[in-house]
Amino acid sequence: MKERRHMIIVGFMGSGKTTIAKALARQLACDFIDLDSFITEREGRSPAQIIEQDSEPTFRQIEARALHDVLEKNDARVIALGGGTWTIAENRALIAQNNCLSIWLDVPFELCWQRISAGGNAIRPLAPNQNSANELYESRRTSYGFANKRIPVTSGDSIETIVQEILKQT
Ligand code: S3P
Repeated sequence: MKERRHMIIVGFMGSGKTTIAKALARQLACDFIDLDSFITEREGRSPAQIIEQDSEPTFRQIEARALHDVLEKNDARVIALGGGTWTIAENRALIAQNNCLSIWLDVPFELCWQRISAGGNAIRPLAPNQNSANELYESRRTSYGFANKRIPVTSGDSIETIVQEILKQT
């Protein structure tokens, strides 16, 4: 495996970023960090609460700062981003400057939506219904495609299978 400091897991809401990052880190015996959880701890509010109570632009500023600090100061080798983090060019540039390998979990919309809708609106304010979530999903695919690696995921794939595929490709 190439020696890189960070493996960055990107993908749409409900693509399983946190679950896969955690399992990948376990397999590699290294630390993992979830950017949304880092923000929640630091701000005392979840990304969803910040978006609802303040605004999405305010959340994006907080998210960009959090990303910067995680990349600069945290030794975690595996990092799960939020679904929108990678779609912002400045964030991608920051990631590129930090010796990272980006990995896109390319999950069909239907599977993402199953998981999003199971969580309820309060958790994902940017995906309030299936149509708008689908539009957002489509609009983000181009930028997710800028990731170094694309891991196609289907509904039958186990966590173990996905982790093995990542390890094979990296
Ligand atoms: C967002 C996804 C969320 C969270 C925030 C914004 C997005 O993370 O960062 O609500 O823009 O897609 P998950 O992808 O972990 O749900």
